[in-house]
Amino acid sequence: MEGDGVASGGMCGIIGVTGVDEAFSFLVEGLRQLEYRGYDSAGVALVADGDLWLAREADGNHSVEELALLETGSRVVGSGVSGSRTGENSGASSGASSGAGDVSIPPPRHCEAGIGHTRWATHGRPTVENAHPHVDCSGRLALVHNGIIENHAELAARLDANGHEIASETDSEVLVHVIEEELRRSESLLEAVRRALEDVRGSFAIAVVSSAEPGVIVAARRVSPLIFGVDERSAVLASDIPALLGTTRNLFALEDDQIVELRPGVAHVSGLDGSKVDPVPLTITWDLDAARKDGFDDFMTKEIHEQPRAVAETLLDRHGPGGSLVLDELRLTREELRLVDKVFIVACGSSYHAALVAKYAIEHWTRVPVEVDIASEFRYRDPVLDQRTLAIGVSQSGETVDTLQAMREAKRWGARVIAVSNVVDSSMTREADGVLYTRAGPEICVASTKTYLAQVAALEVLALALAEFRQTLDHGVIERLVGNLNELPAAIEECIDREKEVFEVADRILGARDFFYLGRNVGYPAAMEGALKLKELSYLRAEAYAAGELKHGPIALIEPGTVVVGIATRNRLREKMLANVAEVRSRGATVVLVANDGERDVEDVADHVLWVPEVEPLLSPVVNAVPLQLFAYRMARELGYDVDRPRNLAKTVTVE
Ligand code: G6P
Repeated sequence: MEGDGVASGGMCGIIGVTGVDEAFSFLVEGLRQLEYRGYDSAGVALVADGDLWLAREADGNHSVEELALLETGSRVVGSGVSGSRTGENSGASSGASSGAGDVSIPPPRHCEAGIGHTRWATHGRPTVENAHPHVDCSGRLALVHNGIIENHAELAARLDANGHEIASETDSEVLVHVIEEELRRSESLLEAVRRALEDVRGSFAIAVVSSAEPGVIVAARRVSPLIFGVDERSAVLASDIPALLGTTRNLFALEDDQIVELRPGVAHVSGLDGSKVDPVPLTITWDLDAARKDGFDDFMTKEIHEQPRAVAETLLDRHGPGGSLVLDELRLTREELRLVDKVFIVACGSSYHAALVAKYAIEHWTRVPVEVDIASEFRYRDPVLDQRTLAIGVSQSGETVDTLQAMREAKRWGARVIAVSNVVDSSMTREADGVLYTRAGPEICVASTKTYLAQVAALEVLALALAEFRQTLDHGVIERLVGNLNELPAAIEECIDREKEVFEVADRILGARDFFYLGRNVGYPAAMEGALKLKELSYLRAEAYAAGELKHGPIALIEPGTVVVGIATRNRLREKMLANVAEVRSRGATVVLVANDGERDVEDVADHVLWVPEVEPLLSPVVNAVPLQLFAYRMARELGYDVDRPRNLAKTVTVE
């Protein structure tokens, strides 16, 4: 797919339902819950009275809301949206890849089945034509897809030769036409989809409906996640759990290379090769309320306020019999862990920053060398691992495709693999040898807050467990550090209580355009995370540097008006850090420092101070992150941006 100018099915969330009368509102509500996977465009297809009804919208953040308006009648047709019926009974022309201008019909009240999609464009523009669902030439089939079809060009050429009209630039649309071809020699939609997928290379979670088989949805998976559920009268599917909370608790995960045929009250699962499959029930630990805003202005504020609890719960019950530390599902023997001679941590985004913090702790406490790698780099750079390597994948969602594939790569090398994830039964946790959960609850805001803090806490527990198995720390020292970890939630709470002071500093900085974030030791990854928050929320240029490196180039960029945010909490490099800060201040930078309560000497080199309680230095990133989150939040809000859904981003990136 790289660089070929094709709009990909890419990231995205998919949803489907059969056996529910008000399918349209069900699907739209599900899409709202899936918007964290992307929101460049959205669409729904319904099977009703032997016809297919289709609506698609491409309006950035508002795509799903625009779709919702169709139902209330407050919107019938407009730029880029069309509610149209296709198929024999409608008398409409075939080829239902409807764009603006089609005759518009509101969603049918009663329908047999429906599918929906919210998209995050990877290649090509997010337009209505590229929005899902995609429809075949006969106007009978509709398909939604999450993933990438790698051989789409080859398939498109074949379809073109057979007279198919491909209406979009997506890799996904070819699938619906291949299924259309296979239907000619198949007895059922299930058989046609199964046959079509034989020709497909790449990743997919798809759902397909046909007006010729009302009430049936066929869905299949390879790499991209897909769950489904059944109750007495209906059946549902989605990319992820939040979209299906409040439906049935009888949920299952579809595994790679499986296909499911859903009918009201019935799910029939099999392998793509036709083999028989017993679906695995999912453990659901969240309820719908947890996924709502609880009266806060936005999810980010809610999630920042949930941080003390997220960390406390992540640390809960980590003592096993005899006082030793425990992971949630450790399918590794103590002996295996004792023999580990190298640790590799792979992750993306904020999870990568949590991994960088952990490197300092693991190396210091266990004396095992740790490499941290960005998952997308690790996968392709021929890393050196063997049976004595412990590979740790860190991922809030447990679905980020680069991290998932990096973990698979590590497994191929014989490494033992642990997943640190926030989602029970995610792809990574199912495949790993051991699992450590961050028990932060669902995180909806695209920018990570509480899950980042929980990841650092979880990785520190893992570091201590390794130190215990390898006997590199005395029992007493481990006990003291566990005690220090347990003090973190209170310290985080104190930082949140100081929100107003942080906001005041942010308000005085408003208008600045260039930011440097500096730190040393664990302050360095903490600075990276702070800079990432500012970039993704406020769209301001923010670079993070190891403070000692500044003199080797970046200091040339410092001039009056540049803001330098420094992490100057207590550790053995604090004096050096303050000296580095003095250097930038003397060149005109405005300095904001994160510092420990009572350490008044920082005021000599800072214009503004964000005070935080003192904690054990190796654990300090958990506390120091809080004022930096609040700072970025305030800047973004004051600049008028949507903090929960920053432009161009998605919560879970399921494409490379
Ligand atoms: C996206 C999100 C980030 C997140 C990263 C890794 O970029 O916007 O907030 O840190 O993915 O996600 P994961 O689920 O693997 O932690």
